[in-house]
Amino acid sequence: MQEKIHFKASFKEIVVILFKNSKNIRVLFPLELFFVAIDGFLASRLPVLLKFFVDGIQNNIDLFLKEKLIIGIIFSLTLAFSWYISAIIQHYLKEKISTNIMINVQSSLYSHLQNLSLDFYQNTYIGEITTRLTNDIYQSIKELYAAFMHSIWILFMLVPSVYTMVKFNANFFWIFFVFMIVFGILLKVFMPIIRKRERNLQDQRGKINAKITEYIYSMSLIKAFAKEKETSEIMKKEFNLFLSKALTSAKIQILFNDFLNMFVLYLAPTMLLCLGVFMRLTTGELVAFFSYWNIAGARVRSIIEISNRIFVAIASFDRVIEFFNKSPLVKDDSTAKPISITKGSITFTNVNFKYPLDEKMIIINLNLHIKEKTRVGLVGQSGAGKTTILNLILRFYDPVSGTVLIDNDDIKTVQQKTLRQNIGVVLQDTILLNGTIKENMLFVKPEAVDTEIIDALKKAQIWDYIQKLPDGINTTVGERGVKLSGGQRQRLSIARVFLKDPAILLFDEATSSVDSKTEHDIYKTMQKLLKSRTSVIITHRLATIHECDQIVVLDKGNVVDIGRHKELYSRCDLYKKLCDQQNFI
Ligand SMILES: Nc1ncnc2c1ncn2[C@@H]1O[C@H](COP(=O)(O)OP(=O)(O)OP(=O)(O)O)[C@@H](O)[C@H]1O
Ligand SMILES: [Mg+2]
Repeated sequence: MQEKIHFKASFKEIVVILFKNSKNIRVLFPLELFFVAIDGFLASRLPVLLKFFVDGIQNNIDLFLKEKLIIGIIFSLTLAFSWYISAIIQHYLKEKISTNIMINVQSSLYSHLQNLSLDFYQNTYIGEITTRLTNDIYQSIKELYAAFMHSIWILFMLVPSVYTMVKFNANFFWIFFVFMIVFGILLKVFMPIIRKRERNLQDQRGKINAKITEYIYSMSLIKAFAKEKETSEIMKKEFNLFLSKALTSAKIQILFNDFLNMFVLYLAPTMLLCLGVFMRLTTGELVAFFSYWNIAGARVRSIIEISNRIFVAIASFDRVIEFFNKSPLVKDDSTAKPISITKGSITFTNVNFKYPLDEKMIIINLNLHIKEKTRVGLVGQSGAGKTTILNLILRFYDPVSGTVLIDNDDIKTVQQKTLRQNIGVVLQDTILLNGTIKENMLFVKPEAVDTEIIDALKKAQIWDYIQKLPDGINTTVGERGVKLSGGQRQRLSIARVFLKDPAILLFDEATSSVDSKTEHDIYKTMQKLLKSRTSVIITHRLATIHECDQIVVLDKGNVVDIGRHKELYSRCDLYKKLCDQQNFI
């Protein structure tokens, strides 16, 4: 379902977004308005010049040639050069301001999206996000800014023109009034229809981008299951839907554009001439009258010509604003304080939790105290809620009720950023940046020197492999570099955490991609590291965690039992079952 557009409600926010971070725009914008006003005003003087010539020639051509021609020429040259100077300044300012605004909006939206909680990224397609951040912004800002300036120009041109014409003949006011009403009605009728169609079209474009990104990311899966034909068919359907939406939108626009063109080009001039004759204007007045229409009409027609792009821009802007209106699920309180975790105890008190879009409780009345500097293993069947507990410690989500304390601080009262700076996480799906091994390591600790990096790589049991690579730690990894195996990637991300050296460590199936011997070696090297900090370890291989100070057995979001391996094995059926499944005693 399409979300409601809060276009009007956030007008103030839009202005803030457009003009924030830019002192220079706040100075340049009024300057541009000033030059646009001059341009509009100069254009409104041109018909006066024509009237001066035509009436002068008609009244007494000899007198005109002798006395007035020179005045006319000076007037005309002054007009031309003033216009030239104001146009150069104005056009440069327009480019500078609109590009600046575009970059502002883009970087504000990027920062805004980064502050959104993880659920936004879990529920939104990557392609949809990139389309709004790039295409939608490029397509909207410059176009809308230009349209806005065109309108301001027309206003500055119309006001003195109408004033002058009314001075020639008071009836002119009524002609102007009728024209405005006709335009107003046309806009009122067509605008909402076109805007809605354009928005539909843009949404379809976003959907296509999202699908393409999804399929390209999953190409190995598509090939492995030989689904190329099916995915091509799905894409074809989406492209065809785009085509039909594009044509519907084009039909309405063509109807509107050409009606306005007919009005401006054919109907309006005839109406103006008839009215002018009816009002018995002088030839000069009639020429001026007509020339006003030509000047204003040319602008109106140029707006109509680009109206297609303006409607696309409005629809794109709607989509950008929609993302700006999303607020993070997990917010820092205004009183949130920074935290520096020294001990690292973690306490869950009566915690209940469900994922935002779901009904079902995933964690039910969790009470758990993890003592500082101890090692805790979380075990349970798949879907028991182990990863969810780590998400709560990291405050990716807030509990529905209950509290999570770290060293007696409710994590809701501390800044998320500093909380996460004190926690190291290694996940099953390791994410490496496209860059060198060193850059990947520096990402968590920019000031680290090479010896520290190498030390961390040694602890994670990957240094032997890396030092054999021709470029060592300067080897590029990720999409465009050396392809690391799943296990190597995991060890690299463990090395990253060693380098970060946080007070709390969270491992979620961190060693699932390595063989049992390497896993054993890694945890052995980690012994020293784990001793001096709190660690929560999730692994399916129970042999890895049997030495933990505490093992928490979870089942469907409930803590079934807590204890050490031996006691649990003898008293907890679920734990015994899990151990027996792995022939682990
Ligand atoms: N982002 C999410 N949105 C909605 N439901 C979710 C989300 N993540 C997990 N769940 C649901 O919450 C429950 C617990 O999931 P969780 O990932 O914590 O399980 P787990 O114990 O880590 O399982 P596994 O061992 O397979 O990793 C599952 O039923 C899952 O479907
Ligand atoms: Mg999990």
